[in-house]
Amino acid sequence: MTSEKFAHRPVLLQESLSGLNIKPDGIYIDATFGRGGHSAEILKQLSSKGRLIALDRDDTAIESAQRFIDDPRFSIHHVAFSNIEDVVNELELMCNIDGVLMDIGVSSPQLDDASRGFSFQKDGPLDMRMDRSSGISAADWLNKADLEEITMVLKTFGEEKFGKRIAHAVLEQRVIKPLETTAEFAQLIDKAVPVKDKFKHPATRSFQGVRIFINGELDQLNQGLEGAVNVLKSGGRLAVISFHSLEDRVAKRFIRKLSKGKEIPRGLPITQQEIDADKMVKAMGRAIKPSAEEIALNVRCRSSVLRVAEKL
Ligand SMILES: C[S@@+](CC[C@H](N)C(=O)[O-])C[C@H]1O[C@@H](n2cnc3c(N)ncnc32)[C@H](O)[C@@H]1O
Repeated sequence: MTSEKFAHRPVLLQESLSGLNIKPDGIYIDATFGRGGHSAEILKQLSSKGRLIALDRDDTAIESAQRFIDDPRFSIHHVAFSNIEDVVNELELMCNIDGVLMDIGVSSPQLDDASRGFSFQKDGPLDMRMDRSSGISAADWLNKADLEEITMVLKTFGEEKFGKRIAHAVLEQRVIKPLETTAEFAQLIDKAVPVKDKFKHPATRSFQGVRIFINGELDQLNQGLEGAVNVLKSGGRLAVISFHSLEDRVAKRFIRKLSKGKEIPRGLPITQQEIDADKMVKAMGRAIKPSAEEIALNVRCRSSVLRVAEKL
């Protein structure tokens, strides 16, 4: 299946690019290349001296970058963005990066390709790994994890209040036949959930929870944010687009933590400079959400949020 079969529309494109404050000769990192929607636009704004380093943990994203491969300003690396510092170190560009973009979560091509197992609306193997060369599939995990672990994942990462009931149903099902497909998991959830939300498929939350767990998404985000700030030069920008409240909370808290100076007891004789010495970033404005026009064109972007920070 070619990666170009499934389309992807870049989210908050103009807003994230203006957040990055692209300098034509600058060095930028697109830490979540996907199908290169944001990368293509960054390249348009770079001069022949500029440089774009792209990362993605999904091999289909890497394949789709072939169209940029002849551009000497561009390179792509098949790694998780938690390794951003290793990539930049190897390129000997530490603290020389002008901007890092992280457009996290799954891409439309990942959701739309039934063989990836991300969607409860398309029947396929229950895989859900962004990087199929490592880790274990969602089915393998669900078929061996214990009740407490499954309940914790559904409740914590899926915010599913019926997590325990669903976990019980998984344990009962796998004695009869191990789970293999997205449709089997979706049907099991549908039967286990006693109260249905009018506007949401009952499997929405559980699929999100298992996906976040299988891909270690919140740990990735924490490590990726930390690494991104470390590779930036002073004045460099970090732009993070997230798709649900759990991720946005991590990004928001991270920026807030790094934009606060030392907690100093009141009344101590200390200069403003000493207070500021510990701040690593400043938040650039508030969270930005897609316009009504963008949502009308691409309903999947409706929950996206962009946050921008500048390294001091
Ligand atoms: C929402 S899409 C990005 C779309 C992209 N901005 C575009 O316009 O085409 C997210 C991409 O990030 C990748 N990704 C998610 N988590 C990652 C991680 N921890 N490290 C590297 N890539 C990751 C996914 O594989 C996916 O291709």
